[in-house]
Amino acid sequence: MSSYDNVRHKGKSAEEHHKSTLARIDQIQTQFKAPGSGKLKGKVCIITGVGSLKGIGRATSIGFAREGATHLYLLDYDGTNLPNLKETIQSQYPSVKVTTVQADAADEKAISGLCEQALREEGRLDVFFANAGWASRDTLHNTTAEIFMEAMRINALSVFLAVKHASSAMLQTNSSRGKDRTGGSIILTASTAGIRSGAGTVDYSASKAAVNSIAKTSAYQLQKTDIRINTICPGLIETGMTGATFEYARQRGTEGKIGQLNPLGRFGVAEEIANAALFLASDDSSYVNGQNIAVDGGLSASHPVVPGRWA
Ligand SMILES: NC(=O)c1ccc[n+]([C@@H]2O[C@H](COP(=O)([O-])OP(=O)(O)OC[C@H]3O[C@@H](n4cnc5c(N)ncnc54)[C@H](O)[C@@H]3O)[C@@H](O)[C@H]2O)c1
Repeated sequence: MSSYDNVRHKGKSAEEHHKSTLARIDQIQTQFKAPGSGKLKGKVCIITGVGSLKGIGRATSIGFAREGATHLYLLDYDGTNLPNLKETIQSQYPSVKVTTVQADAADEKAISGLCEQALREEGRLDVFFANAGWASRDTLHNTTAEIFMEAMRINALSVFLAVKHASSAMLQTNSSRGKDRTGGSIILTASTAGIRSGAGTVDYSASKAAVNSIAKTSAYQLQKTDIRINTICPGLIETGMTGATFEYARQRGTEGKIGQLNPLGRFGVAEEIANAALFLASDDSSYVNGQNIAVDGGLSASHPVVPGRWA
């Protein structure tokens, strides 16, 4: 036995760990439903990529409503689940106004139009969570130039447009609506794939690295405006995007192995990313700017965790 083995926590058996993972996730999801404390009171927010039933965008929309946002503008290019999301929010949080929009997050007219609509109807825009994203599946030699450009269009161009038009709207002041100073929070969903390799295809990872870069450069350009721009870099989260991987593992009885490569040794759920978005949207993060924040169980901070081995 090496001396390193003495300092590494031995942990539970794989079966016990899987059981405790499921219990922990259940606890996190239950806590997420607890009453809010009004952290987003008075804020007008736009969120993209809200259409997937298990997605980060939907969980965040519900979290923002729980925290008392004034008006949520919710966009997805797939309209199927938008009525259900609107009804879910309005039945639980009737004082929150909800507007759903079926549009492409990478369509400049749609994004500038939505920011203008918020200004017209509410006189202010406080938060833009640019979360819509798409993951390709092809290996390097099967990735066409068209797929590469599509990943850049959906993941990086959409975020650029959000930053450009949301920041213009956030520069508008309106004392009659309680906005005496410029400011706002723009949150972008990147990925651990945008930090290092091994978490996505070449085109997806490049597009998410672009997202991380856009946050830093835009924060610099928007200096002294009190507009903050940060990214969230999720690790492996069970959503519509990763659903097939989870389903396959469950069918094979290997669900307990999912997410083993990070120090927490488990996958995450959409509510855990929504909690990070809530922090960044609220004034609790008033001095957090230009950051790429990994919410990944420690994956990007560590060499791969190999259960039972250290080298
Ligand atoms: N799930 C993960 O493990 C993971 C990890 C890292 C990053 N992410 C990122 O998180 C974000 C949310 O993804 P998710 O995991 O909730 O996946 P999801 O597939 O469940 O949700 C993504 C949503 O974005 C919508 N969308 C896709 N392209 C769009 C477009 N051009 N315009 C408007 N809407 C569009 C989809 O219709 C869908 O509703 C994405 O940016 C994704 O890249 C996810």
